[in-house]
Amino acid sequence: MFSSRIQPGQQANRLSQAVDRLRRAGRPILNLAQSNPTACGLQPDGLLASLQDPAIGRYEADCRGAWRSRLALAGRLGCDPERLFLTASTSEAYSWLFKLLCDPGDAVLVPKPGYPLFDYLAGLENVEARPYRLEYRHPQGWQIDTDQLTAAAAQPRVKAIVLIHPNNPTGSFVSQAERDFILYLASRHGLAIIADEVFLAYPLETREAPLSFATAESGLVFSLNGLSKLLCLPQLKLGWIQLAGDPAVVAEALPRLELIADTYLSVGAAPMHALPQLLPQVEAFTSGLRQRLQANLATVRRIFDQAGSPFRLLRCEGGWTALLEVPRYLPEEELALALLEQAGLLVHPGYFFDCERDGLLALSLIVPPDEFAAGCQRLRAWFDDHGRE
Ligand SMILES: Cc1ncc(COP(=O)(O)O)c(C=O)c1O
Repeated sequence: MFSSRIQPGQQANRLSQAVDRLRRAGRPILNLAQSNPTACGLQPDGLLASLQDPAIGRYEADCRGAWRSRLALAGRLGCDPERLFLTASTSEAYSWLFKLLCDPGDAVLVPKPGYPLFDYLAGLENVEARPYRLEYRHPQGWQIDTDQLTAAAAQPRVKAIVLIHPNNPTGSFVSQAERDFILYLASRHGLAIIADEVFLAYPLETREAPLSFATAESGLVFSLNGLSKLLCLPQLKLGWIQLAGDPAVVAEALPRLELIADTYLSVGAAPMHALPQLLPQVEAFTSGLRQRLQANLATVRRIFDQAGSPFRLLRCEGGWTALLEVPRYLPEEELALALLEQAGLLVHPGYFFDCERDGLLALSLIVPPDEFAAGCQRLRAWFDDHGRE
């Protein structure tokens, strides 16, 4: 009766089961993995006022999203509003692009380590998410394994390269050299590029000034972004796709994408009409949040990353996550469970994100700084106690 796209009975992992159990028992948990910005006191000013635009009372069936909202967004991005599509989220943008580019059984290349959602987003469109490797060298940082990506791009049925710029959880931007190579590779094999730039506004330890893929002038490029990370408003459900590349190819893609967008018309009037009022806040808001991210990163470095320390903070070029390499007293899952049970600390182990190396913990840098510092101190104390055993 049911589609094979959905595998039944997926059990919650052991860590979330343990979290549920402790919460039911009333045990306090300090969540160093908290990635929900609305739980971290992050909100732009004037949110409620922005949701009261009188235009909300009218239904305008513009499949790319209300003209006025696209005009405001285009003004900020410096692009043609005809090249913008508003979506209900970045996740929905992916599903539209997989429909646009792929037939069932086709594949897209996705970075590993990476955000686990992509397997599901692709799977629900009957598309295979095929990983390409990012490798880490200290202190230079993460790099795309270009040999492996080159081989993967040449495989049959591959339709697109997904770039997360910067990636979650590695925080790595696609460097200028990697960008040039990937644009060349994509044009050689006729592949589209999907550049997820939801964390682009949050550079931290970067080597180069971040550059959006929306500036690409060859091939077919989709740059994705949205309010979820840009203004910490995942609950508003508003994202967008910006098309770039060779104008002739873009012209072929536009009417096809329009058909998909027109079939759903999924963006609600309230977030859509709030957009022109919210966008002027982006600079001040993202700069305030960047200060929090920098402060928390400095805290991890101060507590864990001194000379001779058994810990190592991986280079974090941007985004909301720091990866901390810790002594391997226990396998990652056991370690996360022990930290939860014994120290009341929730951290995400690296295997959640398909990290190859063992002994990585992902810490969320958006947690309020006092709470973050208290959590890091408790984490350090737990390891110091266990190192003495
Ligand atoms: C890299 C990346 N892309 C997309 C998303 C989802 O964004 P949205 O809330 O707009 O669907 C996330 C969520 O954390 C993410 O980490």
